[in-house]
Amino acid sequence: MRTLLQNGTVINFDSRFEADVLVENGRIESVQKGMPVPDGAELIDASGMYVMPGFIDTHTHFDLDTGSAVTADNFDTGSKAAVLGGTTTVLDFATQDRNGTLKAALEMWHKKARGASCNYGFHMAIARWDEATAAEMDDMTAAGVTSYKMYMVYNGLYVDDGQIYAALKEAKKRGALIGAHCENWHVLLRMCDEVKARGILGPEGHPLSRPAAVEAEAVARFLRIAELAQTPAYVVHLSTAEGFFEAERARARGQEVYLETCPQYLLLTDERYKDFDGAKFVMSPPLRQETDREALWRGLSAGAIQTVGTDHCSFTMAQKAMGEGDFTKIPNGAPGVQHRPQLMYTYGVLTGKLSLEQMVKSLSKNAALLFGMPDRGEIRPGMAADIVVWDPNAQGRITDTDHAHHCDNSPYAGFAVRGRARDVLLNGRHVVENGVLKGSGAGKYIARERYQKTV
Ligand code: URP
Ligand code: ZN
Ligand code: ZN
Repeated sequence: MRTLLQNGTVINFDSRFEADVLVENGRIESVQKGMPVPDGAELIDASGMYVMPGFIDTHTHFDLDTGSAVTADNFDTGSKAAVLGGTTTVLDFATQDRNGTLKAALEMWHKKARGASCNYGFHMAIARWDEATAAEMDDMTAAGVTSYKMYMVYNGLYVDDGQIYAALKEAKKRGALIGAHCENWHVLLRMCDEVKARGILGPEGHPLSRPAAVEAEAVARFLRIAELAQTPAYVVHLSTAEGFFEAERARARGQEVYLETCPQYLLLTDERYKDFDGAKFVMSPPLRQETDREALWRGLSAGAIQTVGTDHCSFTMAQKAMGEGDFTKIPNGAPGVQHRPQLMYTYGVLTGKLSLEQMVKSLSKNAALLFGMPDRGEIRPGMAADIVVWDPNAQGRITDTDHAHHCDNSPYAGFAVRGRARDVLLNGRHVVENGVLKGSGAGKYIARERYQKTV
């Protein structure tokens, strides 16, 4: 199977140039100007388009059962939404049951993901750290799982500082990376009680119970633990300026620190909790203030924040209503996997905060490096043919319902967007044509390698 993308502008993390791109048997065969049309090749006219490496979402939760609610999107709907938006690979969180093994979690997530329409890999969320879990890490490496998440919060997921320290050391031996959800659990639980005791029961109580210092303290603690363990560290879904400054302090001490933020922390503020539908913005960490947003954009522009993942964790408004009268019972999370590239293009590239090359770096290349997918994230001969033909002239507006998420809300409803994934090649297959999904179920599991430093 051969495909020739003609006359597009190739965008890589470090270059942009006019070229044709020849794809053969799932790989990029050749990238050069004025290529002759090979026999039997499908032609895609990319004139006036950007040809970018398929985007990688470092952070999704499809088919997650929180104990009180199951996410609205499963792998079927979530992966279709992803690829329609230009995201060719998602890294989802396989989550260990506190009484179960990593192996059982991995098997369960493989089952959930079968038939997905985009490529996928799994971070393993460790819910119980002990010798048995440590011993399973070799099996995880062999199975292509080279990254882990540890939660400093949540019943059933919380791990203590000593456990994080020990896990970091074990991960390092295997070239694996640990990301942490950084919030101070014991303090925020007390603060939830305090806020409720003041009679604040609606969504506006959520950010009051988890102020910036709740995140910054945990970021500082996690990074000090990594310093003591002498390992690299990854902070997931960073939301605050204060957390960012803690990471910069750790770097100034010589530590290797990687940061992920999300479109919601770049684009929305805690003003949203005053809206009548404030529950839809209840996620952890919560939305922050304008100064946080600005600091995160500055960090991203400067290359001090390496990745942008969505933390796609969708719940319907009916599920959100479970927390009416008690904000602590609102299921945490929001959808976003389809819209991340459009949002970053519109509010990052078109506002001059990011170059196209930086967009490719933070949405694709850095994720490929950090999470052990060295043959993705670039348009170059030999790389896997995950390719997005990006139409920079498309215009639209996000609404609560007009998307492929299996969910009746979007935190970005009302946002104007420019650009769209007009065509998408997934492992060399032309799966999205003119914005329509033609090839569902073509996603593959990506067995990942050791982590590599970002660019
Ligand atoms: O509110 C969120 N972020 N829900 C998903 C779970 C997590 O902490 O990432
Ligand atoms: Zn988290
Ligand atoms: Zn998450």
